[in-house]
Amino acid sequence: MNDFKERIATELIAVRDRSLAYTEAEDDLLVRQHSPLMSPLVWDLAHVGNYEELWVLREAGGITPLRPEIDDIYDAFKTPRKDRPTLPMLGPAEARRYIEGVRGRVLDVLDAIDLDGPTPLHRDGFVFGLVIQHEHQHDETMLATLQLSGHPGLVREGDLPPGRDAGPEEVYVPAGSFLMGTGTLPWAYDNERPAHRVDLPAYWIDRLPVGNRAYAAFIEDGGYDDPRWWSAEGWQWRQNSGANAPLFWVKEGGAWWRTRFGRTEPVPMDEPVQHVCWYEADAYARWAGKRLPTEAEWEKACGWDPEAGKARRYPWGEEDPSPDRANLGHRAAHPAPLGAYPAGASAYGAEQMVGDVWEWTASWFQPYPGFRVFPYKEYSEVFFGHDYRVLRGGSWAADPAAVRTTFRNWDYPIRRQIFTGFRCARSEQV
Ligand SMILES: [Fe+2]
Repeated sequence: MNDFKERIATELIAVRDRSLAYTEAEDDLLVRQHSPLMSPLVWDLAHVGNYEELWVLREAGGITPLRPEIDDIYDAFKTPRKDRPTLPMLGPAEARRYIEGVRGRVLDVLDAIDLDGPTPLHRDGFVFGLVIQHEHQHDETMLATLQLSGHPGLVREGDLPPGRDAGPEEVYVPAGSFLMGTGTLPWAYDNERPAHRVDLPAYWIDRLPVGNRAYAAFIEDGGYDDPRWWSAEGWQWRQNSGANAPLFWVKEGGAWWRTRFGRTEPVPMDEPVQHVCWYEADAYARWAGKRLPTEAEWEKACGWDPEAGKARRYPWGEEDPSPDRANLGHRAAHPAPLGAYPAGASAYGAEQMVGDVWEWTASWFQPYPGFRVFPYKEYSEVFFGHDYRVLRGGSWAADPAAVRTTFRNWDYPIRRQIFTGFRCARSEQV
């Protein structure tokens, strides 16, 4: 195998180790549905193997289906999450055997395939990038399921750098055009393409994500009880849900506590807020006299290098993420304190744009001009419209393989179980 194939093999092994670590638990935890929003963990586990079988073995490798009779069970479109517990799913031991069988053949396909050939699915190992990113995304989903389950034990307490206070509240992004999206990153998804010029007026964007201290001030100021700060749909959500703080927060003895992977602890005031929905982010921004950034504003502040006149893969440049630049890859099971990554700053000086928390943007999930479906319309196209808001930047639970400045995530504006926060922006006063 050449170096690139070795690297793909290493990434395949790493993501599988991760999936197996998250599902190393008693069967009951794996087969139970912990929330109607989520699949049983054992569904995710077999689903990543089935996806790998469909794309690498059948599509790219031309191999006869191993278990065609289970395809429908693991087709996310045929079975909504809430219905998954009633499916005749593979049990934990059988699921592990199945995905291992698939994986053995995947490595054979990798060995034989021509990554420089004309087939778009093969070129630059796209199909491997597809399954590696897909599995990491399911691993992050599994973490959200575990957090909802209240099951202790998966907390990982790695060391993160300390926060720091120095620095302005906002950074300035002068008017001008930039290149949004990509035509060159080989593992970028169809929804990140093509690269296109976007012209933006000048704006300010928060240097850091909104922190727990600032968010708690919004709560203490009666933010959840004042319709002035909320959009009409947001206020309706607020009334129906009865929410009065981020998910997993409770106030006791005059202080805020949160539950994180089955443990209750004081809310660390210097961390970015997480587990807020789009409506809460939007309301906070209005209370703060600001607004959420558009997706284009977010991406320009994160990835554009105005001096070089080109887009960076990460805020700091092209080098792979390292522990001093971003909190990615589940180093610890929480966001890093605010200001922890001066070395990860973007060209405009914005920090912690990659890692820590996904960031809600003001934008709906829409195709870029010139969008073309690849390799299938259920990856992106069926989600375009006015149902989903775009999230950017990746969380502490996202893997570097599935994070870059152009990466787009999307979810319903009511979702809070994901590892999501936000930062604010404002237009330049004229
Ligand atoms: Fe999936």
